[in-house]
Amino acid sequence: MNPAVDAPEQARQAPNPPLLDIRNLQVRYRHNPDAHAAVHDVSFSLRRGEILGLVGESGSGKSTVLNAVLRLLPDGCRLSADRLEFEGIALAEQNPEAMRALRGRRMALVPQRPMTSLSPVIPLGRQLRRLAGPGIDDARLAELLRQVGLQAVAERLDGYSFQLSGGQLQRVLITVSALAAEPDLLLADEPTTTLDTTVQAQVLRLLLELRDRLGLGIVLVSHDLGVIAQTCDRVGVMHAGRIVELASVKDLFGDPQHPYTRRLLASVPERWERGRPLLPDTHRHRAPLRLLPLSPTGCAYLQRCPHASERCGVEAPELRPLKDAQVRCHHPGHAEPATTGKAEEQA
Ligand SMILES: Nc1ncnc2c1ncn2[C@@H]1O[C@H](COP(=O)(O)OP(=O)(O)OP(=O)(O)O)[C@@H](O)[C@H]1O
Ligand code: SF4
Ligand SMILES: [Mg+2]
Repeated sequence: MNPAVDAPEQARQAPNPPLLDIRNLQVRYRHNPDAHAAVHDVSFSLRRGEILGLVGESGSGKSTVLNAVLRLLPDGCRLSADRLEFEGIALAEQNPEAMRALRGRRMALVPQRPMTSLSPVIPLGRQLRRLAGPGIDDARLAELLRQVGLQAVAERLDGYSFQLSGGQLQRVLITVSALAAEPDLLLADEPTTTLDTTVQAQVLRLLLELRDRLGLGIVLVSHDLGVIAQTCDRVGVMHAGRIVELASVKDLFGDPQHPYTRRLLASVPERWERGRPLLPDTHRHRAPLRLLPLSPTGCAYLQRCPHASERCGVEAPELRPLKDAQVRCHHPGHAEPATTGKAEEQA
């Protein structure tokens, strides 16, 4: 049994059970037993009022986890989990109608690209009313937008989405998703990726304000470690479909334990020094990262890890408690070996 199950089990029995509780989630996009799972043994829980960040390289499975929670995976996809619960509701057992009732009402998704989420030929107000659900007319919509400082948009509901900036549109979508339906859970998939830093700050402030006002639980996916550090309470680091480290923001940024987390943090541009390789994660191999094969038996990070031992090649590590965090590694906490461009080339 995965020892990581124990802590959330205790939380479930506590007076304040988690809003979202995921144990051993697996997702495969094809009915092919040999295909790698896009998500493998993912476990975490989220409390009301908490913001959990999910970070990790492209293709590590972050969006798949969010889509699995919302049951928005494509046909032919295989999902299994020991537990996939939203406020005690077993999501995998709900029929499509029940899921439709939950989505948008109690669980909302903030999309990555706001421009493609709305039609440019249908008036904005009409689309937002449909998104907000029954009982929301133009007057209420305008009131909600004014509440978050979007007066200019509130006066232009008969206009079109292309008349707004990307930042305005993203804030409009977050406001409508979160304030109109007042969901309990907000899943935000890279909500600030396409925005400049000023608008990004406005969007993040809005998320924090909504969390404080409504007690929302939020899962925030981002590639921007600065965004995660400023906004989240806890962070899950994903690699190859697995959570490899789950810790508070303070612990993760202050004392990262998994070799992949350490390298992810070391690749933040502010930390670069002249002469250091751009991709420190190519430590032992010059091949493009995505072309390195996963170990069939051992650790999925084996080919890229500077600390791999014989054990790592034969025994896949599980997510285990370490200090106040959880880490999937046989040898956590190693300091990074010094890397220089020259040493990399000789390896
Ligand atoms: N609809 C799909 N059909 C088949 N495979 C998919 C589909 N969506 C995602 N995948 C695969 O699942 C894996 C995880 O993808 P996912 O989109 O969850 O990654 P991600 O961490 O969100 O990446 P990014 O940071 O680029 O958004 C990848 O290997 C991807 O190719
Ligand atoms: S288990 Fe071994 S190969 Fe995997 S991350 Fe830890 S040290 Fe590296
Ligand atoms: Mg994604």
